[in-house]
Amino acid sequence: MRKKIIAGNWKMNKTPSETVTLINELKPLVVNEDVDVVFCVPAISLTTAIEAAKGTNINIGAENMHFEESGAYTGEIAPNMLTDIGVKYVIIGHSERREYFAETDETVNKKVLKAFEHGITPIICCGESLTQREQGVTIDFIRQQIKVAFLNVTSAQAKTAVIAYEPIWAIGTGKVATTEQAQEVCKAIRECIAEIYDTDTAEAIRIQYGGSVSADSAPELFAQADIDGGLVGGASLKPDFGKIVNYNK
Ligand code: 13P
Repeated sequence: MRKKIIAGNWKMNKTPSETVTLINELKPLVVNEDVDVVFCVPAISLTTAIEAAKGTNINIGAENMHFEESGAYTGEIAPNMLTDIGVKYVIIGHSERREYFAETDETVNKKVLKAFEHGITPIICCGESLTQREQGVTIDFIRQQIKVAFLNVTSAQAKTAVIAYEPIWAIGTGKVATTEQAQEVCKAIRECIAEIYDTDTAEAIRIQYGGSVSADSAPELFAQADIDGGLVGGASLKPDFGKIVNYNK
């Protein structure tokens, strides 16, 4: 039985001081022993967030990481900088990074490999545009993203990975995918993992849905056979996130 994992992606929101306030506000609300809870916060707030979340069930994750160990990469964050302060998760290949910061399936793969090398759990994002959905190529497109993301990743590593299926047209738009659409793609992702590896790996890997998840839509989405939780943007910055984490109560 896969444990649910519900992560907030704070994106470029909240200063370090505001981070302390929000974590203090949310920490009594996000207690649910059935769920792994992750707050992915801006790099500048990671240390503060880890301190603020000490002694709680909240895990802190980064929103990005470079694939090199160190060197002349102005403005980037190295994997050992994350592990040094106790970061456990990192979002890789979010559609906003693909769109605005030129990330590709290839850089996603390099980052995924590097995260595993350092013992950080990657939350690997995939998702189609509205045009791709309308053209009926969603599943083909997602399968390609997944196949490249997992190149040279071992089955033991893949079992611990988290995949976030986030249809681009549902992100920040208030237009949540229907439960059927979300389940269909998450199932196809699991089948793709089974093809690359085996059934054991596919059954172990956790697949989230993301895109306008709210306290209202979470219970039905997370009840689907292949949806193991969510990656939540806007609603993760509000007390509503507590309701999302407690979707089954
Ligand atoms: P919203 O929940 O704001 O649509 O954002 C989803 C997302 O991009 C999470 O990574």
